[in-house]
Amino acid sequence: MTYQANPKFSIPVTRTAHPKTRPADDSLSFGTVFTDHIFVMDYEEGKGWHDPRIIPYEAFSLDPASSVLHYAQAVFDGLKAFRGKDGEVRLFRPRKHAERLNKSCERLCIPELDVELVLESFRRLVDVDRDWVPSKAGTSLYLRPTVIANENFLGVRPAKAYTYFLILSPVGPYYAEGINPVKILAADEYVRAVPGGLGAAKTAANYAASLYGAEVAKKAGYTQVLWLDGVQHKYLDEVGTMNIMVKIGDEIVTPALNGAILAGVTRDSILTLMRDWGLKVSERAISIDEVIEASKKGTLAEMWGTGTAAVVSPVGELGYKGQKIIINGGKTGELTQKLYDAIVGIQYGQTNDAHGWTEPVVKG
Ligand code: COI
Repeated sequence: MTYQANPKFSIPVTRTAHPKTRPADDSLSFGTVFTDHIFVMDYEEGKGWHDPRIIPYEAFSLDPASSVLHYAQAVFDGLKAFRGKDGEVRLFRPRKHAERLNKSCERLCIPELDVELVLESFRRLVDVDRDWVPSKAGTSLYLRPTVIANENFLGVRPAKAYTYFLILSPVGPYYAEGINPVKILAADEYVRAVPGGLGAAKTAANYAASLYGAEVAKKAGYTQVLWLDGVQHKYLDEVGTMNIMVKIGDEIVTPALNGAILAGVTRDSILTLMRDWGLKVSERAISIDEVIEASKKGTLAEMWGTGTAAVVSPVGELGYKGQKIIINGGKTGELTQKLYDAIVGIQYGQTNDAHGWTEPVVKG
């Protein structure tokens, strides 16, 4: 899919007078370094979204009464741009991310954004900071579009003013483990979301809700939490900040989107690939007891998390109520690796993009 600058939008660009030094690709971890520019746009009741602009990256000034600081009316999304061996910079499924950002806005009572303008913000800012897209295998440019309520008011109701901004960060692996298996602990006490709550939206509050349980798991020697459903503490929900998939026998199971679970773009991409390959894929409720039972029977073949940040993260060990379950001998499974390679191959423009998921960022 190619793209030409959308003439509908006038987006003035003010370039920085003080470009920063770009870190070496080898030194990149996740989310610590930011590029030279930021895209910003404002909303006011009666005026709508206005003044889209690209300006030098700078600190915001927020009034201490700004609503986001008090009631967390905030959403974000996360997607990536990749530099292929051919030098081309490609966004992965940008429209899906822009649409999801709007869904999150709706759930948080944030005024709808023009998806075309959000897409334009991705394309133009990545083009302006194109040199920041790293090229080493496993690195990319992470895009973090965010909307915050920004009205100076302490009453509890949807704000009347908002700021949309997009920042970019050259990134390496999200987990120190990279594609190596992680140890996860099923949380029987803490929950991240409940159906009817915010779990399906990409909103700051969900991540705040996850911190305590994640720290408990870390203290117990685990990398991440396997979240169980918020009502019965019985069914798999998500893992860390990712969707979870389990291969039992020849069936690959992932929890259905039940209102508590984020509709992951990597989740969707992986389900699509597996269906293309003729695999038996089920989106259904799966209990922790079913996983343990499968492990006892020897049919628990593989388990992995899927997300934009890590792509695929294999699970090598699962802890639950004092039990320790080793999956695939603690090694990355064959299907997990195949899925990682397939997604990464498409992202870097090395394999056929049959579904048109990548979009080259055209030089402006
Ligand atoms: C992802 O796995 O893509 C995430 O959502 C992680 C992000 C919150 C850092």
